[in-house]
Amino acid sequence: MLLSRVRVEEKLLLEELEKRHVPTKVLDDREVVFHLETKPDLAVDVVAERCIQHSRALYALAVLNTWGIPTVNTFEVADVCGNKLITTLRLIANGVPSPRTRLAFTPESAIAAIEELGYPAVLKPLVGSWGRLISRVNDRDAAESVLEHKEVLGTYMHSIYYVQEYVPKPQRDIRAFVVGDETIAAIYRTSEHWITNTARGGKATNCPVTPELGDLCVRAARAVGGGVVAIDLLEAPEGLVVNEVNYTMEFRNSIDTTGVNIPGRIVDHILNVAKAGPSTPSIP
Ligand SMILES: Nc1ncnc2c1ncn2[C@@H]1O[C@H](COP(=O)(O)OP(=O)(O)O)[C@@H](O)[C@H]1O
Ligand SMILES: [Mg+2]
Repeated sequence: MLLSRVRVEEKLLLEELEKRHVPTKVLDDREVVFHLETKPDLAVDVVAERCIQHSRALYALAVLNTWGIPTVNTFEVADVCGNKLITTLRLIANGVPSPRTRLAFTPESAIAAIEELGYPAVLKPLVGSWGRLISRVNDRDAAESVLEHKEVLGTYMHSIYYVQEYVPKPQRDIRAFVVGDETIAAIYRTSEHWITNTARGGKATNCPVTPELGDLCVRAARAVGGGVVAIDLLEAPEGLVVNEVNYTMEFRNSIDTTGVNIPGRIVDHILNVAKAGPSTPSIP
């Protein structure tokens, strides 16, 4: 297991591995050094990636997959899920419904995109999580202000404007967990705030996995490359839409809530990937 810190999730996964007497090594991403010229004998069948930072996960997976070492998840999944634009492109290409989204490169063209979608609109950084730096702009004044702040105070990446329609959802969204080819569990995240992440105070309750929800989530997971992912969905007036797909997700609030042994199911999947043997080296 490649990790940054043993959080609750890593502890649960490691306990699950120990319960099954699976010999496990822990690689700390603060200590690891990859010698790129020579593939080392890591003596592992699979690497479970559990880094906190997207860039560490992404580049470690690039190296491991180049060497043909099976990983959960793959570099492809990290690359796609770590970027909201690429995720949206994959969802659209695979016919998975998602909120209407626009991409623009200047504050002026971003305003035009926002006004075409109509207020309120949502602006998001391409890379980010836990609901951070997501803005709902309710009118032109707010839009101009947020865009100016992004341009002046943000890094260059904050001037790649990802503009989305605001989906008038109930006071909640849905977070569903897909492992391999199955949607194993889902929760509602309910909040007074329009941003419903549990990291931002959203309260988790069980959400039944209907055939419709299960099928949509499996299609979303396949669209990003498959593996162990968490799908965020919004209940739009016209039906469910997929907002984003997360890899290396947290799941501590969802085990008791759903009654599903999520770490157990993830470990089952990791062991299946190990059993399938070395993968064909894939150069990113
Ligand atoms: N287009 C939208 N319409 C309505 N609510 C949204 C929209 N986009 C995001 N949200 C709310 O904000 C939360 C965080 O957005 P999300 O895109 O999942 O970013 P993050 O990667 O930070 O979790 C969502 O869980 C949802 O509650
Ligand atoms: Mg999210």
